[in-house]
Amino acid sequence: MKVTVVGAGNVGATCAQRIAEADTADVCLIDIVEGLAVGKALDLAQAAPLVGHSRLITGGEDYALAAGSDVVVITAGVARKPGMSRDDLLVTNGKIITEIAGALSEVAPEAIYIMVTNPLDVTTYIAHQALGAPRERIMGMAGSLDTARFCTFIAQELHCSPGDVQAMVLGGHGDSMVPLPRYATVGGVAVTELIDPERLAQIIERTRNGGAEIVSYLKTGSAFYAPAAAVAQMVGAILRDEKRILPASVLLRGEYGLDDVFVGVPVKLGAGGVEEIIELDLTKEELSALHTSAEHVRSTIARWNEMKNA
Ligand code: NAI
Ligand code: 2OP
Repeated sequence: MKVTVVGAGNVGATCAQRIAEADTADVCLIDIVEGLAVGKALDLAQAAPLVGHSRLITGGEDYALAAGSDVVVITAGVARKPGMSRDDLLVTNGKIITEIAGALSEVAPEAIYIMVTNPLDVTTYIAHQALGAPRERIMGMAGSLDTARFCTFIAQELHCSPGDVQAMVLGGHGDSMVPLPRYATVGGVAVTELIDPERLAQIIERTRNGGAEIVSYLKTGSAFYAPAAAVAQMVGAILRDEKRILPASVLLRGEYGLDDVFVGVPVKLGAGGVEEIIELDLTKEELSALHTSAEHVRSTIARWNEMKNA
């Protein structure tokens, strides 16, 4: 099994580390900056005898290195700085993704693609256009990160193990994301029975701002440890055919009453990529929040198409 990670920055290099150290696949890192991917791959490879895996980790600048990949993860682009929204990255990252996806469509046309670069739902759309891959083979990682943040804050509130918390965050990866407290449980007990509504509302707000909170501390970049862990979970689900139910940004064709837009919904991930889109029985309010979020993504896609064609 081979995974190519494009972008050897904070998220990309940490993804490579997690994927190799979990013994999931060999990893190839690609970055535009000369020497960066080679150097990081060499450094990661030299950790193998210490951490005890036998995965091959290589790197370079040439997209041809991605040939034969089962999964390609795209993390290339710029990250936001304090005061910026993810949508502020659209122009720069949109161009980068168009270029990268065009090159990869030649060398790895059969791979399953996981997008990470922001604005996530829009870059996933852009890559889908450039790759021409079926919707089963292209998805964006965001919902599993947003869900992990929601679970972490719930666990911290209740002083319980994060592993016992189950939750689901849907929608676009931005301020309009849709955490679903009705589906959150701790050891099988509804979180609405354990945390009072006012406190739960604060936790939901903190989840929505989870990325910005970290940017405000780091100042020069954004989160990468948890994002990389979320990517590694998705890669593992695909390559080990785990049939995991996780939220991911996928192209909807009528599901949830939404058409022709990428937005985060629960999917079944296995060897075929997105093997199923799970349709939850949402309340009117939850569905309306999902539609508002999807409309935001749709308008950003429209903005991108106007700029691209101008
Ligand atoms: P970073 O700046 O550490 O790394 C980005 C890397 O991309 C750099 O090494 C850069 O040289 C490389 N790059 C730029 N243009 C390239 C090209 N044309 N070809 C190959 N490589 C290229 O940034 P970081 O922290 O790794 O974040 C990467 C992206 O992921 C950002 O857009 C960030 O907003 C996004 N992100 C998304 C998350 C999500 O939940 N979807 C979570 C965390 C980050
Ligand atoms: C995050 O949520 C940067 O989108 C990224 O941390």
